[in-house]
Parts: sequence; C-alpha cells; structure tokens
Amino acid sequence: MKLFKKLGIDLGTANSIVWEAGVGVVLQEPTVVAVGVDDHKVLAVGTEAKKMLGKTPEYIEVVRPMEDGVVTDYEVTAAMLRYFLRQVMGPAWFFGPEVMVCVPAGVTQVEQRAVLDATLAAGARKAYLIDKPLAAAIGAKIPVSEPYGNMIVDIGGGATEAAVIALGGVVTHKTLRTGGNKLDKAIMEGLKKNHNLMIGEQTAEIIKTKIGSAIRLKRPEAMEVNGRDSVTNLPKNVKIDSDVVYEWIRPVLDGVIEVVRLTLEETQPELVADIVDRGVVLSGGGSMLRNLNILMTREIGVSAHVALEPQFCVIRGIGVAVENLEAYWRAIR
Ligand SMILES: Nc1ncnc2c1ncn2[C@@H]1O[C@H](COP(=O)(O)OP(=O)(O)OP(=O)(O)O)[C@@H](O)[C@H]1O
Ligand SMILES: [Mg+2]
Repeated sequence: MKLFKKLGIDLGTANSIVWEAGVGVVLQEPTVVAVGVDDHKVLAVGTEAKKMLGKTPEYIEVVRPMEDGVVTDYEVTAAMLRYFLRQVMGPAWFFGPEVMVCVPAGVTQVEQRAVLDATLAAGARKAYLIDKPLAAAIGAKIPVSEPYGNMIVDIGGGATEAAVIALGGVVTHKTLRTGGNKLDKAIMEGLKKNHNLMIGEQTAEIIKTKIGSAIRLKRPEAMEVNGRDSVTNLPKNVKIDSDVVYEWIRPVLDGVIEVVRLTLEETQPELVADIVDRGVVLSGGGSMLRNLNILMTREIGVSAHVALEPQFCVIRGIGVAVENLEAYWRAIR
C-alpha cells in the first residue's frame, strides 16, 4: 500500500467520480447530500441521499452542493469530499492524498478558490486543478498535444462546455449553464402545463432516458407516468409519447447547439478546418441522450460522434494527468 495516494476527482453537478492513480475509478456517487435542517449535520451522502430526494420529512434537507458546474454550497461540498476521501483512503487516511480536481474552463478566480479550499478542508495534502474540457479530451483519447485543432463538447448535468484544444491547451471555449438537469426540468414543466401533472426530478430523468430523443423518432415510443394532479392534488397517471417529450426538450438542445456554434465562430479558420476534417467529439452523461450526435451533425454541419463511455471521459482524463504530472504540468493550475 502506498502511503501517499494520488487521487483525481471529477466533481460534477450530477455525479462525482474518484480515480486512484494506478488503480482507476474507485468511487462513483451522485453529488447529493442529505443534511439536518437545524444542525446542518450530514446524514447521508451520494446514492443514499439521492434516494431521499423529494421524499424527506421537514427536518431533513437534500442538497446538491454543485450547481451548473460550480460550488454553490461550500460547506456541504467540503463535507461530501471528506466523506469520499475517507472511503477511498481507508487506513491511509492519516496521510492526506494529493488530489487533482477539474473545473470548467470559464471559472472565476473565486470559484477556483472555492474548489481548492473545499478539497484541502476535506483532508487533501495538496490540491491541483485541471480544465475540464482538456480532461474530457484526454479521456476521449483525442491526441491533445498535436498541432491540430480538436473540438470536445462535454454535456453534463449542469453545464455544457464546448472547447477547441490544440497543442495541449484550450484555445477557445464557451460554457453555458445548461445540460441534463435542464432537460429534466423541461419535461417536468411540459407535463405540468399540458397535463396538470406534477412529477419529481427522478421521474423526469427516467422519462428522458427511456423515451427522450434529440430528433423525432420514426416510430414514436410511449410510456405511462405517475404523479400528482396539480388541480385536484390526487394521484394521476398519464400516457405520453416521445414526440411530445421531443417538443419539450428541443429548446434546451438548441441552447447546447448554440454554445458549439459560438465556440466555432471564435476559433481561428485553420483550427476550424482541422475540426471539419476530424469531427466533433461529445462527452458527458448528457451526450447519451438518444440521437444527439445526429442533431449536432445536422445543425452544425460537422460530423459529431459520442465518445466511448462518455460519462467517464473527464475522470479518465484526470486519471491520465495525475499519473503523468510531468507531462501535463502546463495544463495544471
Ligand atoms: N442515457 C441517457 N440519456 C440522456 N441523458 C442521460 C443518460 N444517462 C445519463 N444522462 C444524464 O447525464 C447527466 C449527468 O451527466 P454527468 O455525470 O456527465 O454530469 P456531471 O459531470 O455530474 O455534471 P457537470 O459536468 O455539468 O457538472 C444527467 O443529467 C443524466 O440525466
Ligand atoms: Mg461533468
């Protein structure tokens, strides 16, 4: 057992993943914490806390401490990280690990500081930061150090980041605070407006993954949804199909496309030419929405494909960087 462990953390809005150098992914939990309303004591973290979402008595609050890709609740984030580190470190806990965490390319100094401080407060001996799009590109096996432009679009729960990478660094990037969570919200709103049906976030996410699609399906699919009638307040069951879900989520997808378009607009022509040759790579859990690559290819006119296991691109990239600090030192903050 190594006394000084090196870890990487993808601190996402929806999911947090921890990588141990030399081992690989050692922990994956939803970024959700349940705390006592009065004493702010942490009652549950991760999967256990996510199960409580929308079902808590009034003395428990379920918090998502990251919003749109940045820390919004510093204390809860630090408590959550401490819990993760303890789980991963085991008996080596006494020797704080070195930890690399990713941050969106467009973060402010204050937001960066919050991530570093929360990591140190959680028990890390040293903390480094790496740009999330660069990590995603490394994890998607894009040859980032070459003198060619490559585009990566990471669509997470809270943020969509498009970036052009060349010579080992981020050349242009745009971040929009939109992603999978907004798709879920759009489905909740659609049901409420059109069917007077109230549902929770978890149900909306299930609808999205089951019958959601970024283009109209040739053969529409349907499913039944249980919730509460917003007028009578009684339980209610409604049948919806993929076409209406598509109508509800399309405006959010237009936002994602716009981020990509704006990033390309700001990129030097030589690099754009490389991207046209090589295509655009999609990463992040949000890129698993059915047919998103097809919509993207149609709308921006450059072929787009989803990386292998897109939800793990960022953490794999962070893993490569922590295991090869010397090679990536330029990219580390
Ligand atoms: N099969 C699927 N179809 C559509 N969306 C999916 C699918 N699987 C997961 N998602 C969505 O992916 C999102 C989570 O992605 P990911 O884990 O990459 O986010 P994150 O890294 O936590 O967030 P961020 O990077 O924005 O901080 C959630 O909104 C989830 O609903
Ligand atoms: Mg992410």
